[in-house]
Amino acid sequence: MEKVTAPTLIKMKQEGRKITVLTAYSYSMARLLDEAQIPVLLVGDSCGMVEAGSDSTLPVTVDEIIYHTRSVARACKSALVVADMPFMSYEVSAEEAVKNAGRLVKEGGAEAVKLEGGSKKSIEAIEAIVEAGIPVMGHLGLTPQSVLKLGGYKVQGRGDDAGTAMVEEARAVEAAGSFSVVLECVPEALAKRITEELTIPTIGIGAGISCDGQVLVINDILGLDATVRLPKFVKKYAELSEVILKAASDFKEDVESGIFPAKEHSY
Ligand code: KIV
Repeated sequence: MEKVTAPTLIKMKQEGRKITVLTAYSYSMARLLDEAQIPVLLVGDSCGMVEAGSDSTLPVTVDEIIYHTRSVARACKSALVVADMPFMSYEVSAEEAVKNAGRLVKEGGAEAVKLEGGSKKSIEAIEAIVEAGIPVMGHLGLTPQSVLKLGGYKVQGRGDDAGTAMVEEARAVEAAGSFSVVLECVPEALAKRITEELTIPTIGIGAGISCDGQVLVINDILGLDATVRLPKFVKKYAELSEVILKAASDFKEDVESGIFPAKEHSY
C-alpha cells in the first residue's frame, strides 16, 4: 500500500472511497493495524481513558501523546499518523497551539494533528497550525474535552438551531484549512448534510453511514475491557478480554503446578 498522506484523504473523498480510521497507542498494535492496511491511525487522547483508566480525556498531556505517537509512528509504513492535541494544548493562544503541534510532529513523528471544536479559538488554532505546515483534522459534535461544559457525553446538533450552528462550524473548520473533520455523536441526517456541503472528508463516530469515513477506538472493537458499557455506535469485532484472561490464568496454572518452564523453555 502506498504511503497515505493528508491529501490522500481528500482524494479518497473525491473518488468516493470510504476512509477507515482506528485509534492506536502502542507500537505492537500499530504494527498490526498498519499491516491490516488501515489507512489512518489516530493517537487519540482516548488513551487517557482506555489505556490509563481516567474517567475523561482531560488529564492527558502533550508529553503523553508524544510518547504514544512515537511508538505508533515507528510501526507505520503506510498509515497516516494523526496525533490528538490534548485539552489545553491549543486553547490559550495560537502561538502555543503551533508550538505544541510542532512538538507532536518533531518529537512524536506525527504527520497530522487533530483538535476539537469550532469556536473562534479553535479556528484560530487550526489556521495557525496549517500556516506552520502541519495538516489538521478537525473534530465537531461531541467533543469529549468539553465534557464539563456539555454536562456529559451526549448526542450533539439535535434540533434546527443546533444543526445549523454545526454546519457553520464545519464550514469554518474547512475554511481554516483542515484536511478532514471528525463528526462525533451527531444525528445521521445532519452528518449527511455536512458531508455533502464540505469538500474535505468527514470521519464519523456515531454519526451514521453517510460520512466519508468511520473511526472507532481500537480497544472497543477488540473487546479489551468487558467491564465498560460501550456506546451504541460501537461494533465489537472480537472479545479479546476473554482470550487474554484465559492465557493469563493458563500461565498461572502452569507456573503453580510446575508445568512451566518445560525442558524446551530452559537452557
Ligand atoms: O481520542 C479519540 O480517540 C478520538 C476519536 C474517538 C475520534 O478523538
